Amino acid sequence: MPATPLSVVVLISGSGSNLQALIDQQTVTPGPFSIKAVISNKADAYGLERAKKAAIPAKVLSHAEFDGREAYDTALSDLIEEHQPDLVVLAGFMRILSKQFVQEFHGRLLNIHPSLLPKYKGLHTHKRALEAADQVHGASVHFVTEELDGGPVALQARVPVEPSDNEESLAARVLTREHIIYPMAVKWMAEKRLCLEDHQLLLNGKPMKGPIVLEFQRENPSD
Ligand code: GRF
Repeated sequence: MPATPLSVVVLISGSGSNLQALIDQQTVTPGPFSIKAVISNKADAYGLERAKKAAIPAKVLSHAEFDGREAYDTALSDLIEEHQPDLVVLAGFMRILSKQFVQEFHGRLLNIHPSLLPKYKGLHTHKRALEAADQVHGASVHFVTEELDGGPVALQARVPVEPSDNEESLAARVLTREHIIYPMAVKWMAEKRLCLEDHQLLLNGKPMKGPIVLEFQRENPSD
């Protein structure tokens, strides 16, 4: 374990269940990373409560108070940099980030997206997977680049799509797997096993040819 834990700032907009998974990981196994702050662009995000319960400083920076994306992203970047994080984790942060912001945090900006990228970039991923009659769906942890949901993918969770699934049941199944792979990827970064060098992903010092893929089966009928 590194002597100084990787310092992390988490950005959220909503429920923050992925934030909770990260909090749980650092609480249960105190270790390679430490969440220094949580920032939400929405005042009513439940994730703010989760942060407070875990005694993590939580702040709201509402996009509604700024005139345009660049102005907001500049303020966001300033707020993040107060904590000098090694890594910024987007956990359901529902905003498109400006080129300037993405470039500033290149190599230290992670996102989780609820699809098997490059499939279904953007919104309504579960609906689109169902409409396409996919038998397998999932989630991807990727570094953020200027292309929306287009940065290098480090880790994926594949889950089966059941004939009885609707958008809600499929989303719930994928989300439980997100809670496994996101803390895993952050831990790998903290352990310096995973990094992005320029545009090349490295795992254990070696170039990755594709993401690490975890296959999940259903554990019980309600899963
Ligand atoms: C997750 O499905 C994540 O993949 C997507 O937004 C959702 C956030 O959920 N980016 P939560 O706020 O972590 O519960």
